[in-house]
Amino acid sequence: MTKKITIAIDGFSSTGKSTVAKQLAKELGYVYVDTGAMYRAVTLYALRKKYISEINFDTAALINDLPIIKLKFIFNPEVGFGEMYLNDEKVEKEIRQMEVSQYVSKVAAVPQVREMLVAQQQEMGREKGIVMDGRDIGTVVFPDAELKIFMTASAQERAQRRYKELSERGEEVTYKEVLENVEGRDLLDTTRKDSPLVKAEDAKEIDNSHLTLAGQFERILELYHEAINND
Ligand code: DC
Repeated sequence: MTKKITIAIDGFSSTGKSTVAKQLAKELGYVYVDTGAMYRAVTLYALRKKYISEINFDTAALINDLPIIKLKFIFNPEVGFGEMYLNDEKVEKEIRQMEVSQYVSKVAAVPQVREMLVAQQQEMGREKGIVMDGRDIGTVVFPDAELKIFMTASAQERAQRRYKELSERGEEVTYKEVLENVEGRDLLDTTRKDSPLVKAEDAKEIDNSHLTLAGQFERILELYHEAINND
C-alpha cells in the first residue's frame, strides 16, 4: 500500500485552493479539511451573538465562549466532502456569505481562536492521509508536512472568480465590493501578528492566474509523486 502523507495547501483567498484540495483528496482517497470553514464558523457564531459588528469587536466575550463553540465536519457522500457544523447545526451555506467574509480576518487574528483551531486541525491530521487547506498549514499546523503547496493568483483574477461564484448563488454584490474584500483580506491576513500568511520556505508555489484547472491539477499530482518518492 502506498504510504500516506500530509499535504498542506496554503495561499491567498479565492485562489481555488479548496477546489484542488478536494480534487486531490478524492484522487488519493485522503481526508480533506477546509480550515477556512472553521474560522468562518467561529465568525458566524460571533456575528449571531453580536460580538462583532462594523463598530465594535468584543474579543473578550468571544474568547470566553470558545469552550462552548463546537465545530465538526460531517462527511456528506452526496457532495463528497465534510460539511461544517457549528454546535450541531449545518452552516456550510451560511459561512460562505459575504457578511462572514467581511469579518473573518478579524476573528482569525485573535490568538486564542487560532490556538484552539490549530489544536483541532493537528488532531484531525494525526494519522496523515490528509489534504488541508488554509493560510498557516505548512508553517504552523503541519511544519513537517511532506508536501506543501502555496497558491497565488492576481487579486483581480481572484475577485473575478469570487464575484462570479457569489452572483451565481444569487448574492447581490458588485465586482468592486468583492475586489475590495479580497484586497482587504489579503492585507489583514499577511500583516496580522499571529501566524501571518507567508509561504513556507519549502513550499512549492503555483501561480494559477493563467492555468486551467486541469493543468493545475496535473502539476499538483506531479508534485505529489515527487514528494512520495523523496520521502
Ligand atoms: O479560505 P477562506 O477564504 O475560507 O478563509 C477565511 C479566512 O480565514 C481568511 O480571511 C483567513 C482565515 N484563515 C486563517 O487565518 N487561517 C487558516 N488556516 C484558514 C483561514
